[in-house]
Amino acid sequence: METRTKAMQKINWGVLGCGHIANTFMAGVSSVSQAEVIACAASDADRAKAFSEKYRIAHHFGDYQSMLEQRSVHAVYIATTHNFHFAHIMLCLRHVKHVLCEKPLTLNASQAEQCYTLAKQNNLLLIEAVWTRFLPAIGALKKVLEANTIGEVQCVQANFSLNRELPDAHRLNNPELAGGALLDLGIYPITIADIVFGEAPVNIQSHQIKTTTGVDKNSFYTLEYASGAIAQLSAGFRMSGPTYANIMGDKGLISVPFFLGAKSFTVTIDDQQAKEHHFDFDEKDNFMFEIAHFTQTLHDALNSNQQSDITSTIMPAKTTLRVMRIMDTIRDQWGLCYADEKK
Ligand SMILES: NC(=O)c1ccc[n+]([C@@H]2O[C@H](COP(=O)([O-])OP(=O)(O)OC[C@H]3O[C@@H](n4cnc5c(N)ncnc54)[C@H](OP(=O)(O)O)[C@@H]3O)[C@@H](O)[C@H]2O)c1
Repeated sequence: METRTKAMQKINWGVLGCGHIANTFMAGVSSVSQAEVIACAASDADRAKAFSEKYRIAHHFGDYQSMLEQRSVHAVYIATTHNFHFAHIMLCLRHVKHVLCEKPLTLNASQAEQCYTLAKQNNLLLIEAVWTRFLPAIGALKKVLEANTIGEVQCVQANFSLNRELPDAHRLNNPELAGGALLDLGIYPITIADIVFGEAPVNIQSHQIKTTTGVDKNSFYTLEYASGAIAQLSAGFRMSGPTYANIMGDKGLISVPFFLGAKSFTVTIDDQQAKEHHFDFDEKDNFMFEIAHFTQTLHDALNSNQQSDITSTIMPAKTTLRVMRIMDTIRDQWGLCYADEKK
């Protein structure tokens, strides 16, 4: 099979779903050498055509299947709404395409496990596109934590909220599109807690404030870890608030403004002056780091003729699954189950 037996000079991408976030992907991919978008597909032929014209993409398709039948497409970026991710990932994997899928990878851990099983069987790379994980500032922050600079972490506080009045049909409000703050926004504060602790919490408590459509508009999660440390997390799309993360240790504090797209953080050791760490990049390159990591991982695997288990060092299956299981538990506590969910 071409995608598995030959080292490639360039990864040829197809974009599946030509909505809002697909534009951010196009901006990011333009900064990654060895990656080129050669095709796009949308459920609406006119949207696919308009997207291909906007970005001068060679091929466009009015259905996903036709794009996936193209042997020249090696990897697919899935940019549809959450409710479709499971079906679209499985479709791509069955067509022997490597996959970078928008967050959340699927609706629940059971679906994610099925996707990773098929990816492994077909020797394909599957990564959940949680862009935060791939940022240079986050890599540096992990090193500060590993060096025990702030001592043993006692508490993580993180919030990501927007305040938008949205129509009921909007994907954040709409249960048919797996709406709600948790899967869309809450995944980020849970991610920062997971980056800090790197293990499953031993206890989870949560609360939600619901929309009239029945999903969480604002939600609050307390995760307790084996050491006794606590993560106090919140997210919402109808709540004004600062987007920040504070990581509090028994020797000092790390503060991360706008942590999900972190460009800097400050380390304050008790009684010493705060030290700022900066990792600036252009807004248009928000997704560049995840695309570059995906591309490099694929290149390395293909160049070494790796026959099994092509996996990401930053975002392997176990990491996605750990976060998905936290979100499953929270939704179980609320009794929030989406229509096309198979548990
Ligand atoms: N990483 C980030 O910073 C970030 C930011 C925003 C969103 N996201 C993620 O990106 C994904 C898409 O979000 P978005 O804001 O781009 O969504 P969107 O623009 O509302 O929709 C994306 C695509 O999903 C399909 N779709 C949407 N509603 C549909 C419906 N009712 N019926 C059938 N298909 C529908 C369409 O695909 P076609 O074009 O094929 O018709 C649409 O173009 C979500 O999973 C979200 O979590 C990530």
